[in-house]
Amino acid sequence: MTKYEIMGGKPLHGTITISGAKNAAVAIIPAALLVDGVCRIENIPQISDVSLLLQMLQELGAEVRTVNRSTVDIDCSHIRNRQVPYELARKIRASYYLVGALLGRFGWAEVPLPGGCDLGGRPIDQHVKGFVAMGAQVDVHSGLICARVPEGRVAGGSVYLDMVSVGATMNIMLAAALASGMTVIENAAKEPHIVDLANFLNSMGANIMGAGTDVIKIRGVKRLRGGTYSIIPDQIEAGTYMAAVVAAGGDVLIQNVIPKHLDCITAKLLEMGVAVEELDDAVRVRRTGPIGRTNVKTMPYPGFPTDMQPQIAAALCLATGTSVLTEGVFDSRYRYVDEFRRMGAHIQVDGKVAVIEGVPYLTGAPVHACDLRAGAAMVIAGLAARGVTEVDGIHHIERGYEDLVGKLAGVGADIRCITTPDNDTQTQVG
Ligand code: UD1
Repeated sequence: MTKYEIMGGKPLHGTITISGAKNAAVAIIPAALLVDGVCRIENIPQISDVSLLLQMLQELGAEVRTVNRSTVDIDCSHIRNRQVPYELARKIRASYYLVGALLGRFGWAEVPLPGGCDLGGRPIDQHVKGFVAMGAQVDVHSGLICARVPEGRVAGGSVYLDMVSVGATMNIMLAAALASGMTVIENAAKEPHIVDLANFLNSMGANIMGAGTDVIKIRGVKRLRGGTYSIIPDQIEAGTYMAAVVAAGGDVLIQNVIPKHLDCITAKLLEMGVAVEELDDAVRVRRTGPIGRTNVKTMPYPGFPTDMQPQIAAALCLATGTSVLTEGVFDSRYRYVDEFRRMGAHIQVDGKVAVIEGVPYLTGAPVHACDLRAGAAMVIAGLAARGVTEVDGIHHIERGYEDLVGKLAGVGADIRCITTPDNDTQTQVG
């Protein structure tokens, strides 16, 4: 078993460079299916969700060529197979974007139901509602989402989302880009990756207006052509390292970010008494004194992101006073709390609310990463704790963080990857 071993208590100093945004990349890669020609995509993060999606595209017949560490060329001109393998699709949430992309390109899609982090119920009824509004017949049965338009080309249509859904907004945009008419999405999500997907599609010839507001209009076009596009920096990766500096202390320049995307996180850090300086494409985070308490409610963008809830909780475990966390997006996102308790945290959960009574210190312990962001939070707690923390379940973390160990070690953290054979004797792998 591979784990992270962290000797906590070392403040972080130096510079961390942020990679491309996971949640943009996992929509833009399927979007290449809509394009007749070569898409060069730059600033792609090296994470396992991206590798899986590229594999899925290759299974469908796309030509994928790695240009360098963060750039790939994808050519979907000659798709020959439309069956997405279950073994790949079930591992990640974003495989649902293949439905919108295949439906938009071919008028027909059959994709296994997606996997991804267990955050309570994650229905896809709003995606289905959007496809149906565009003239598709959709069945969800035998573990498959099957969507088709009898005419062979999506018609376009109007949909008012019952709740703000990132996945449904992007999936409808994908299905609508090549539609024969206009599609209007109301109550659309406004996350930076929604705007990034729209910018990618528009740069390939699509006609999408209003991304970043709650009404998006997509006028279908006949064809998308190839081109070059660079993915935005990852808001959540940047926020995770900001929270790490809060918890462990120190002074870190986090570069290759769009500071505006971090405002919702910066505002909370300022309330907690942490210094955050915004530069053109970087933020500098400094914590020298105690951490102040605060309350956090997660909300769709521009609110505080649910994908930062466990990481801010790690920092609040060490705040002076009592903080209240309210999860405003998912039914349940506190499965990690028992792991924090093993490290000495005081947290009570009641439904969507967690009350965190700050403690003077956490103690290192073996803990489990139960999902991607909870895993990042375990690492943050380990960086701040006294003694050694071992985090297992790190495949979750590697789904969404490029070189987490290298980036943290680069700012002075004592963290390494170890393998533990079945007999529990540890051997270091670097
Ligand atoms: C995406 C992100 C995830 C992030 C989440 C919220 C990807 C691959 N994942 O997930 O990291 O935490 O946005 O920012 O980009 N809902 C329904 N029916 C639907 C769709 C959603 O009831 O058809 C509900 C969900 O259960 C949830 C809320 O709407 O309570 C928001 O979910 P959504 O924004 O769709 O999240 P995901 O796209 O799954």
